[in-house]
Amino acid sequence: MASETGLKTAFFSTRAYDRESFGAVLRQPQYSGFEMAWLEARLSAETAVLATGCPAVCAFVNDELSATVVERLHAVGVRMLALRSAGFNHVDLAACRRLGLVVARVPAYSPYAVAEHTVCLLLTLNRHVHRAWQRVRDLNFSLDGLTGFDVHGKTVGVIGTGRIGTVFARIMTGFGAKVLAYDPQPSAETQGMPGVSLTSLEELIEQSDIISLHCPLTEQTRHLINADRLSRMRPGVILLNTSRGRLIDTKALIQALKAGHIGGAGLDVYEEEEGIFFADCSESGLQDDVLARLLTFPNVLITSHQAFLTHEALHNIATRTLQSLLEFSTGRISAEAQLV
Ligand code: NAI
Repeated sequence: MASETGLKTAFFSTRAYDRESFGAVLRQPQYSGFEMAWLEARLSAETAVLATGCPAVCAFVNDELSATVVERLHAVGVRMLALRSAGFNHVDLAACRRLGLVVARVPAYSPYAVAEHTVCLLLTLNRHVHRAWQRVRDLNFSLDGLTGFDVHGKTVGVIGTGRIGTVFARIMTGFGAKVLAYDPQPSAETQGMPGVSLTSLEELIEQSDIISLHCPLTEQTRHLINADRLSRMRPGVILLNTSRGRLIDTKALIQALKAGHIGGAGLDVYEEEEGIFFADCSESGLQDDVLARLLTFPNVLITSHQAFLTHEALHNIATRTLQSLLEFSTGRISAEAQLV
């Protein structure tokens, strides 16, 4: 198990940027006995066996951590899961608790990275930058169809006023927008923020020109945006989701897009993204017909779960995750990072 001299960790879903950010922090002297088994494979019931010989596993958002997978990890000797993410909706925490697995996450690494990417989706969609870029490269310099609207003076609905929602709300007030915020437990910062009014979810849905999701995925929030709520949104609304795909009923969103009711959807996450996002499917093609349909709309902008991807966020993720592995090896993980 863990020893004072270090720890071997099976690092699933490794990408080049992970090796770079974790590699830089690993060079610090306190990590001299720490070893990473870099695995490109996504963690699943089939690949869990690759963790054999490693007391710890480092996993990302699209790795599978169901009861079956954590049981298999436990059976090959894994005793600690270090999530290099803030979200943990993909982990069966009850199963981890039952097996005595320690689970840690990175509670906050850069709310700015995610909030700024949300703004990027909003502005790109609204001002049609994705289409303009393609047009100009084709030497088509016409502006027909590229008209957007001023964000200034519009009403922006922010669902979830935690770390990311608060930063996004603050940026929107900087644009001169009026912010309506909904959160069952609103942050103290948003309660007193000029330009921000706390409201009910239904009022936010009906009165916003732009709606952005910043709440976690839970039993209560699954399909928070459903056919009924989509139909009650303002015609031409821009819907943004950089949180979790299952917050939106995608099939209902497609119907609302087909009806022309939704002005645009900026999505960094998708309901069934596991196994697709982070992978290169350019040779194999796409098996998911719902995602394929979504990709046909000119007013839908999809990025593959990249809102976190800034140098600052990657550095903070590596620092906090390795800190948790170090703490595990010495027997004590700080309360803010430990889930189980
Ligand atoms: P946080 O925990 O600071 O804030 C979440 C807020 O949502 C809390 O204030 C909570 O009270 C609120 N909330 C809970 N249930 C709600 C409901 N039913 N309706 C409205 N609000 C509700 O979390 P943080 O750091 O702001 O992250 C938000 C989400 O962003 C995460 O859960 C994660 O899913 C997602 N995320 C996405 C990333 C990406 O790369 N696309 C990166 C990091 C996080």
